[in-house]
Amino acid sequence: MNILYVASEVVPFCKTGGLADVAGSLPNALAQAGENVAVILPYYKKVHEKFGGQFQFKGYDYIQLSWRHAYCGLFKYEMNGVKYYLIDNEYYFGRDNLYGYDDDPERFAFFCRAVISMLRNLDDMPDVINFNDWQGSMIPGYLKMDAFNDESLRDIKTVLTIHNIEYQGKTGLSDKADVLGISGTCVDYGQYEQDGCVNLLKGAIVLADAITTVSPTYAQELLTPAFGQGLEGILEHFEYKMYGVLNGIDTVRYNPETDALLSANFTADTLKNRQENKAALQVALGLEVNPDIPVIGMVSRMVSHKGLDLVEEAFEGLMDMGVQVAILGQGDARYEEFYKGWAAARPYQVGLTIGYSDALAMSIYGGADLFLMPSKSEPCGLSQMIAMRYGCVPIVHEVGGLADTVTAYQHGTDIGNGFSFGAYNSHDMYNVVKEAVGLWKDYNEEFTAIIKRDMAGDFTWDKSAQEYIRIFESLN
Ligand code: GLC
Repeated sequence: MNILYVASEVVPFCKTGGLADVAGSLPNALAQAGENVAVILPYYKKVHEKFGGQFQFKGYDYIQLSWRHAYCGLFKYEMNGVKYYLIDNEYYFGRDNLYGYDDDPERFAFFCRAVISMLRNLDDMPDVINFNDWQGSMIPGYLKMDAFNDESLRDIKTVLTIHNIEYQGKTGLSDKADVLGISGTCVDYGQYEQDGCVNLLKGAIVLADAITTVSPTYAQELLTPAFGQGLEGILEHFEYKMYGVLNGIDTVRYNPETDALLSANFTADTLKNRQENKAALQVALGLEVNPDIPVIGMVSRMVSHKGLDLVEEAFEGLMDMGVQVAILGQGDARYEEFYKGWAAARPYQVGLTIGYSDALAMSIYGGADLFLMPSKSEPCGLSQMIAMRYGCVPIVHEVGGLADTVTAYQHGTDIGNGFSFGAYNSHDMYNVVKEAVGLWKDYNEEFTAIIKRDMAGDFTWDKSAQEYIRIFESLN
């Protein structure tokens, strides 16, 4: 099967979040399973700066987007059996950041328009196009419009993957004509409208042949008002074509036995070496270097749905527990200021880095004892899986992919690979952290058994890639 994977960010080219990791590893797993896979993404300035010279120029064309007539270059690159195509347009993508511009809907409408218009310039016509989030959501619309006149496009199936329903790609109704160019076409019967505005994700939900999301629990949650962000009704209507497929992680990249970013490599049989990473982490963050103090790690975007309001409420209690906290992330000023305050007040107990660093992230996963991830909502979550693979025991809120990957430890049994709380409140979170810290301090054998279960977990893409293939095949 020829699969075309459409994403607005892809590791190693560019990344702002988990989508890039998925787009950087699922296509490889599909290729390894024997499929013919290509990935297509915008040729951002950042990608040009990092990889520019390595791409092969395949050609160019002019793309019609509403009344705009825009240049579109196509570049190609091959890596590990996957083909990568890049859509080049200096005006839309030659900017410092990936997103955050007033004309983002136009930029990604152009991207989708270009993908569909350039299909014939790719090495292979796809059987299935798997596109992601709102940025890819014009794909089924433009495909249907073109297939109206071009029979050869009619057999191509489209699959939408929702990574986070909070971002839907909303814009004013007048953009239907002025920007998207769909007014009066076969996809202008309200498909891309919701609540009096254009909603790109909603249109894709209606038009795609199948919808996947990144964990089974999130697939259920999306059908409820608490999580659906206004799209629960339409999703319920299309539930018959909806699937929850759990993400994996790149277990070659994320391997504590070989990871060059760790001070010391280790396996479940050489956990002693892990102590060295903990000491290095304590040194790096200016914490008291002491193996007997439990370190709780957090690597997170600092935004409210990551559960940071709970952490804020419980923080003084955590400090009184005598733990150290290692925090890496950036985001809303409110949270950044909160942690800065604590880091200034307790420099030996709170290690804070505002920003993002792969090296520091890995030293937290590979050195901290516990990993706190109390997200209010979490479609899948990759950090908890990386943490487990590195023997850093997760404490999570039972939601979305966190509920699907972390099983609560049950005392006196060999069940459980972490700690979790069900009701979203800071007391329950505090109590679970206390339980975890207590086990770490007083029941070393039990705690070590949890670490070993974590490290033995299967976080590969193998099973999920098979599920994607089954879904794709069922459409043809
Ligand atoms: C989004 C979600 C996250 C998920 C990731 C990859 O970033 O918020 O939960 O793991 O996409 O699918």
